[in-house]
Amino acid sequence: MSQQPPADTAQSILRVFEPLSRTLENPVALGFLGLAAFFVIRSFVASFSKGPEQFSMKSVQQTSVPAQRDFTPRELSAYDGKDEGTALYIAVKGIVYDVSKSRGFYGPGGAYANFSGRDASRGLAMSSFGTEMLADLDGPIDALDDLDNTEMDSLDEWAGFFAGKYVPVGRLVNPPEVAAAAAAVAASESKKEA
Ligand code: HEM
Repeated sequence: MSQQPPADTAQSILRVFEPLSRTLENPVALGFLGLAAFFVIRSFVASFSKGPEQFSMKSVQQTSVPAQRDFTPRELSAYDGKDEGTALYIAVKGIVYDVSKSRGFYGPGGAYANFSGRDASRGLAMSSFGTEMLADLDGPIDALDDLDNTEMDSLDEWAGFFAGKYVPVGRLVNPPEVAAAAAAVAASESKKEA
């Protein structure tokens, strides 16, 4: 059996709409209502379409992702912030980030200047900014396979921090000679297995 609302409930619902129907009959009130609706819709539309006056270089820097590219450790080292006109990059877990906006930290004289233009993974994992944390520029990328679980967790947290704060610009890759030597070893091993 379907339930009907009692008659007095229906009347009280209609009474709620009485002021609205009286407003719609009054031309002055109707005008105000129209004007209010116009401003609400206009601010709604403006929040979606950015006019040129709201378009700043800051928003371009934060939203545009530069073309992705590969960096060998030596190529990365050119972005160490020593040249003010060049971007400042550091690599964490194989991803190269643009940290130019934090020149105070990573630029010359900054607390973490040793990381700039370098793979900072081992230093972040082991909480040390000593130069002994940095791999040879022409050698293989640090495999980090000797890190214990705590160091690895710490590095993962830092990786999340960098991914959240900075724009990734590319990947860290082995120098061509190292990559070629590794490929040759892999090929001879698979030949031995066959
Ligand atoms: C003497 C001990 C240390 C002190 C007093 C210190 C202090 C600080 C402070 C105040 C910040 C800024 C935090 C913020 O912006 O909210 C910071 C950020 C940072 N610290 Fe340290 N720190 C120390 C050691 C280390 C070590 C050992 C490492 C790693 C090797 C490290 C790596 C970093 C990094 C990567 C940042 C983030 C910078 C960025 O925003 O890009 N710090 N530190």
